[in-house]
Amino acid sequence: AYNGLAPTPPMGWNDWSYYQCNISEALILKQAKALVTTGLAKKGYNTVTIDDCWMAGTRAVDGSLQANPKLFPDGMAYVANKIHAMGLKFGIYEDAGTNTCGGYPGSWGHYTQDADTFASWGVDYVKLDGCNVPNVAGQTAAQTYVKAYDQFSKALVDTGREIVFSDSAPAYFQGGPDWQTVIAASSKVANLWREGADTALGQESGAAKWSAIAYNYSYNVGLGQYAGPGHFNDPDFLLAGDSGLSDTEMQSQVSLWAEMAAPLISSTDLTQLSAAALSILGNARVVAVDQDALGAQGHIIQQGDGYDVLTKPLANGDVSVVLFNKSNASQTISTTASAAGAAQASDYRLTDLVTGQSTASTDTIAANVPAHGTVMYRVHAGASSSLAPALSVRFRNGA
Ligand code: GLA
Repeated sequence: AYNGLAPTPPMGWNDWSYYQCNISEALILKQAKALVTTGLAKKGYNTVTIDDCWMAGTRAVDGSLQANPKLFPDGMAYVANKIHAMGLKFGIYEDAGTNTCGGYPGSWGHYTQDADTFASWGVDYVKLDGCNVPNVAGQTAAQTYVKAYDQFSKALVDTGREIVFSDSAPAYFQGGPDWQTVIAASSKVANLWREGADTALGQESGAAKWSAIAYNYSYNVGLGQYAGPGHFNDPDFLLAGDSGLSDTEMQSQVSLWAEMAAPLISSTDLTQLSAAALSILGNARVVAVDQDALGAQGHIIQQGDGYDVLTKPLANGDVSVVLFNKSNASQTISTTASAAGAAQASDYRLTDLVTGQSTASTDTIAANVPAHGTVMYRVHAGASSSLAPALSVRFRNGA
């Protein structure tokens, strides 16, 4: 990437979807601690981001941003220190326009100053939203956004601090003619970018959450050409742990996001995770697909009545295959290792990444998938190839 950061999709936690503006120093530090005590930090969820509403209503006399003194009485450098002391990274939200989406001071006209402020606080990750970006005479809106995010990106690099950049510009062009142009521009100046609608909020119904997950999947899945190490499409937060979603639905979101090399950013109350939600978020086999070194985004190879089949190439030559049942009734979904782009072989080892169980197949990859469910296989060419190292050791020892 332009800044050498985020070789694999960023992971962590953000307060927005669950808490919106009901945030405070105590809440953020409690959730940060929960990332560590749940073990999720060790699994890679290492960045704690404070979203909108952290600011005071006005800038300081010197024009610098300041935290709301009621919510963050010790200031943001203090919060950053506490988060760093837990072995975590610290992210913060701003907006490229005159005001944030929540109405707080935006960065417009202050990009260098704000980037420097963030660096001085010890910020490791900036999410720059795109509400209230003014019209600029002689420029299209897309040109104004592209220029703004380019400038903010440069201001972050110029701080000399390693700061991951999350860009929201494309989300403001979703469905319009400039959408992909803005995504392409973002992929050159940001490590991740929101390119569409928000996921549902924590207090919404399970049905609203599921439909937001299915929708964000649908707009994100076709954008793989823009993704690669250091630059990833961001279809928004993971809702696993929230009320209303079934375990099957939570698993589907995490599996689909991993298959799409999406950032894995939880936004729920981590102190109340069910055992199921914790094991879904923390499943190392699924996280490994997301964090695969190739950084490739999975894509659809087959679609049928209410289902999609996706494949994603992995660095060791395996492929990850997801059978996704979008419909409201269970169905058997079937594809083949060859269709999924696996290396030619006489047989394959299919590892179900949720259960960890392996089976052998000559080509067929099929499963009965529940409504809203996914089955995710890691497909390895050569079903018995796990025996090879043991055999070669024996031969070398002359046995
Ligand atoms: C937008 C973003 C959200 C969140 C809010 C904050 O809606 O898409 O992720 O940052 O603004 O106001």
